[in-house]
Amino acid sequence: VLVVGPPRVAAQTNALAIPPVVQGPTFDLTMAPSTHEFYSGTSTNTFGFNGSYLGPTLEFTKGDSVFLNVTNSLGEPTTVHWHGMHVAPENDGGPHTVIEPDTTWRPAFEVLNQASTMWYHPHLHMKTDEHVYKGLAGMIIIRDDEEAALDLPRTYGVDDFPLVLQDRDFDEVGQLRFRPMDIGAGGDVMVVNGTVDPILEVPAQLVRFRVLNGSGARVYNFGVSDDRNFQQIGSDGGLLEAPVEMNRVRLSAGERAELVVDFTGEVGDTLTFVSYASELVNNEPGGADEPVRGNPLNGADFTFLTVKVVAQTTSPVPVDAVPTTLVSLSPIAEAEAVRTRTMTLDGGTPGNPFAINGIVLDLEVINEVVYLGDTEIWEITNTSTTTHPFHMHDVQFYILDRDGVPPPPNERGLKDVVFVHIDETVRVITKFEDFTNPEIPYMYHCHFLGHEDLGMMGQFLVVDRSSDVEDEDPMPEDEIRLQNYPNPFDRATTLKYTLPARTDLQIDVYDILGRQVKTVFKGTRAAGTFETVWKAGSLPAGVYTVTLATPTRRVVLPVVLSR
Ligand code: C2O
Ligand code: CU
Ligand code: CU
Repeated sequence: VLVVGPPRVAAQTNALAIPPVVQGPTFDLTMAPSTHEFYSGTSTNTFGFNGSYLGPTLEFTKGDSVFLNVTNSLGEPTTVHWHGMHVAPENDGGPHTVIEPDTTWRPAFEVLNQASTMWYHPHLHMKTDEHVYKGLAGMIIIRDDEEAALDLPRTYGVDDFPLVLQDRDFDEVGQLRFRPMDIGAGGDVMVVNGTVDPILEVPAQLVRFRVLNGSGARVYNFGVSDDRNFQQIGSDGGLLEAPVEMNRVRLSAGERAELVVDFTGEVGDTLTFVSYASELVNNEPGGADEPVRGNPLNGADFTFLTVKVVAQTTSPVPVDAVPTTLVSLSPIAEAEAVRTRTMTLDGGTPGNPFAINGIVLDLEVINEVVYLGDTEIWEITNTSTTTHPFHMHDVQFYILDRDGVPPPPNERGLKDVVFVHIDETVRVITKFEDFTNPEIPYMYHCHFLGHEDLGMMGQFLVVDRSSDVEDEDPMPEDEIRLQNYPNPFDRATTLKYTLPARTDLQIDVYDILGRQVKTVFKGTRAAGTFETVWKAGSLPAGVYTVTLATPTRRVVLPVVLSR
């Protein structure tokens, strides 16, 4: 019997795959089952976009309109989300925008984000991890005039390389071994751009790397084998104001960094790019304090790419220094925020699943309602038993502080994922502009894909203030008010409540027989007015009772579902 994979071939022997780059304005993406040779001679079953694993790099230009034809030939439903991009809810590709098998979804939008590295991946609830694991992910490079005016390496595949980092587990016959709802860093093989044991030839000059953590959970701690410094020039949402000298860059799931490494004068040398995972602590997946027995990637430093330095390019002309200033950003002043929303990342103990504000995702509940044009602070506190990368759709945000301390320089640019440690509180600030939809929400969630699939995710609508209900008579200042609109209602009603002071609370809905039919909110809120949409789903028409309970008070509101 011929023994097939996964052969442990000698390290770093496969040329790093560089996904093809495609330009618009029209982009055709077809998702289909395929096979990919991670190990030579072994055909591994995968999913791909227009190919066997991952997808093409989409090149967008700020200000252009793009038209995407996304065809699902997987034989099962999925969605495709443009991670990091500021697009309308109906174009965002979240769990509500299902692409049924053998159909084509055709979003079209203007590219509003600045030059940056984004990515795309499926987002079907409870299937995201599996679909990404099998190969559905791709990079997006956004270009704009401001970035183009800077002397930076930007020739794709020549002095500007995508690096999609993923850990994967292969079984005895070389097939991907996906573990549903896995919440650890399980893969024991590094795959970069779909290549195992990759080697890349780089020119002896300044070279740019767009690094994406495309893993389900593993955290990477990027460094170069000789411990040299390099410059971080960009974060999730685009370029930083100035390059930051670094020798390590930590990336949690979903995060990106643009790095420039200088190989000048090193022709003939071989170096490796390493994840210094032995330096990861505090429950960072794959780190030193949560080693998984027998997994050589956990708690140990490992090479994920070998680079061999070759002659300089003549075209493009090598860049000789990274500009000392890059772009000008407009961090938002704390005083501009009209509200602070608390997001408690909790759970993780027996009987308490990982959740946000005590609530596990229910696609029928809108957890937060945001007004168009508002600037808000989201205060994310991790009371759970492990770390979580918190991600928001729709917007890029600025990190105000981590436990009250301003973030390090490389975290002062635009972000859409922020890694939050146990017992840490991170405040981010953002403005909700341009897009509203009274029906289709945006998502916020943990970007550990196993946590996301388990429901560590919530939904927010962005609505126009003009559609708000009229406020009623003034009320005593210490009163809790609970109202709903419309009432009666036929599908969904907005529960609006005002709290005089910060409190723990729970909002439940009961039917006429006193049976609890839904928990709409459970968690802590600051003083203020809040809205949550309750969708009645398939419940029969009738009178229901909404209760808002705090440790000291209970407010009851009858509501009428008319159908
Ligand atoms: Cu990378 Cu909700 O997504
Ligand atoms: Cu996203
Ligand atoms: Cu998580």
